[in-house]
Amino acid sequence: MAQDIQKAKEILVAPSVLSADFTRLGEEVENICVAGCDYVHIDVMDGHFVPNLTMGPCVVESIAKVASKPLDIHLMVKNVPFFVDLFLPLKPAFISVHLEEVQHLHRLIWYIKNNGVKAGVVLNPHTSEKLLEYILPDVDLVLLMSVNPGFGGQSFIPSSVEKLRNLKAMRDRLNPQCLLEIDGGVSDKNISVLKEAGIDMVVAGSFVFGSADYTKAIAALR
Ligand code: DX5
Ligand code: ZN
Repeated sequence: MAQDIQKAKEILVAPSVLSADFTRLGEEVENICVAGCDYVHIDVMDGHFVPNLTMGPCVVESIAKVASKPLDIHLMVKNVPFFVDLFLPLKPAFISVHLEEVQHLHRLIWYIKNNGVKAGVVLNPHTSEKLLEYILPDVDLVLLMSVNPGFGGQSFIPSSVEKLRNLKAMRDRLNPQCLLEIDGGVSDKNISVLKEAGIDMVVAGSFVFGSADYTKAIAALR
């Protein structure tokens, strides 16, 4: 019975707005929501933590106004607590911060949660999941980067699958409520192996926005 429930579990899909047509941003956000996504993934880049610059709170506030699904904010920035304070008032579903950039991670995770937003921790491709041992019980979500952060449209890094398997075992032991999300190079080509390895939620930028039919693309990932 428990196995049947596990099999029936649907993957949550969060299209990354980074691959949207920015000249029609509002329309694109409305379209992915109507097409059945679960969350709208927002990539905030500061030009320092990653070699790219994207959107700040004004643009994200406008997105929030037209999105009928909650926001999943991924902060790829230095000076992380400053950016957390900029985005908390928008009341997203999740704010996720990179483990590599936060000095007092436990404090920041609880600061986000105590402000009524679910808190996630993100790992770059080279960062071991073992570093999560003493923070996993406190987080709502772990986001594994399966590309080097900074750009959409990159190739999936294969070692991310083994890392996901190890992380799932840790998650089941330490915090079964915590969601496991993966970000970068996700498509209909690798979704089965990710599902088998235990993923709960996927980010997909170019796969969704590069397709002619957003509803079909999102359905293909479930
Ligand atoms: C990369 C971003 C991703 C990216 C995903 O730094 O965090 O969210 O936009 O795009 P695809 O799915 O095209 O790899
Ligand atoms: Zn992202």
